Parts: sequence; C-alpha cells; structure tokens
Amino acid sequence: MEIPYKIFIINGSHRSENGFTEIVLKKFIKGAESAKAQCEVLYPSKKKIFPCESCGKCLFETPGACKYNDDMDSVILKMEEADLLVFASPVYFDSMSSNLKKIIERLRSTLDAYFEFRNGRTYHLKINKKKKNAITIFTAGNPERESFFSISRIFNRIIDNMGWQLAGEFQFPASHLLVAEPEILASQLEAVAISGKEIVLKGEISKKLLEKANSEYIDDPKTTLHHMTQMILEMRKDNQAISTGTKKMRI
Ligand SMILES: Cc1cc2nc3c(=O)[nH]c(=O)nc-3n(C[C@H](O)[C@H](O)[C@H](O)COP(=O)(O)O)c2cc1C
Repeated sequence: MEIPYKIFIINGSHRSENGFTEIVLKKFIKGAESAKAQCEVLYPSKKKIFPCESCGKCLFETPGACKYNDDMDSVILKMEEADLLVFASPVYFDSMSSNLKKIIERLRSTLDAYFEFRNGRTYHLKINKKKKNAITIFTAGNPERESFFSISRIFNRIIDNMGWQLAGEFQFPASHLLVAEPEILASQLEAVAISGKEIVLKGEISKKLLEKANSEYIDDPKTTLHHMTQMILEMRKDNQAISTGTKKMRI
C-alpha cells in the first residue's frame, strides 16, 4: 500500500473554521487532496494547550518532555509525522494569533538545550534533524501588503530556527473580499489550490505559481478601505441580522 503524503495544518484564527483564513486554507487543501495527500487541520482555539513557562524542565530534567500533559503532545507527534507543515494565521497586531504563538513557544521542548552558532546565527537545533517543508498562509484586514511585513519576517525566522524550509507563502490582504467579492481574487485562490497539488506531486511550488497566488487584486488601498468602512457601517446598522446568522460576513 502506498504511504500517503501527510500534511499537518494549524489554523491559528480565533474564529477557527468560520474565519477568512479558512477560505484560503480550504483551497490549498482541495488542491493537495486532489493529489491524494492526507490533510489534518488543527484549530488551536479548540485545544487545551498551556503556555510555556520557561521552567527548563523539558531541557534538563526530562529532556524533550514538557511538565504539562496537555494536547501539545499530540501536536508535536503530528508535526513530526507530517511531510509538510502549514501555518495559517490571520494578522493580529502585525503578528500571529496568540493561540498559534502558544504552540510555537511550546516547540521549545523539541529543540536542543544548548546553543550552536552557524552562518552568523544562533540555533538550538538537534543535530541531523531532517529538513521539512513548511508553508505559510496569512490573511489581513488591511488592504496594503505592508500588513504582512512583520508576520512574514517572524515566520521566516521561526521556520529557519526549527530547521524547516519555507516552500511558499500566501498573503491575502483586505480579507473581507474573500466573502464580499470573491470573484476579484478568484485567480489567486486558484493558484493556491494548484500550489497545494504541486507541493504534493513535486515537493516544491514554482516561483511563477507563488507570484500568481500573491499577485495584486487591490488597485487602490485607500478606495478599498473606504469601501470596507461603508460595509462595516451598513452591517452595524443591521446588527440583528448579523447575530441571527442571516448575514455571514463579519470583520
Ligand atoms: C485582534 C485582532 C487584531 C488584528 N490586527 C490586524 C492587523 O494588525 N493588521 C491587519 O491588517 N488586520 C488585522 N486584523 C484583521 C484580521 O487580520 C483579518 O480580519 C483576518 O482576515 C481575520 O482572519 P480570520 O477570519 O481567519 O480570523 C486583526 C483582527 C483582530 C481580531
């Protein structure tokens, strides 16, 4: 029997499967599954994961084992078993969600206690760790690309710190458009789906495809923002419709 290509996905949105990030993620999964990959999504907001307290137990007393016996054990196991890791997150205050950050910090237990200085940087990597591909998917409320600057830098470093390699990053600004006007970003979403298939079949995503997925769909951020504000005001007027679920979009 053929061993399936396993993808372990973490969607850090506090809104889990009801958020904008999930819309992009679903496209990626659709593409990956069309190539027979086995995908599993974890929503940190639904898990019991305590924050790292920096007690040092996992480094010295019980190497590799955290003092907490919570859902993080299975998260680490799934990450280790996966061929590909996907980190999906909304931009929250220019960074990732706190739920996702909590998971990242708990990965300290998987690293070596001691330091290694290599290529001008400090690492805590365990020697001979196999390089694993990782992909990032970000959505942001703001229309300008600058909104991804910090989170992109942060994940570039995290992925390097962990000894993984970044195989692709997907950015979707003005995320309300994913629901309000999906047709204007249809080709970008299609490129995300093809990327999902490509990484499974070829082990990488072509530069051209990544460029297409991240190509601009906002002509003028100022106009988009104005449009967005109008929409929020309209929805505020219609609060009851929002709370009864007759209106699906929330910002
Ligand atoms: C607490 C919080 C902080 C946010 N901070 C930013 C921000 O710094 N920049 C930005 O462009 N959008 C920001 N947003 C908007 C979200 O990034 C955007 O709506 C995102 O697509 C939400 O994804 P989700 O629906 O999957 O949770 C923030 C939203 C929340 C709730």
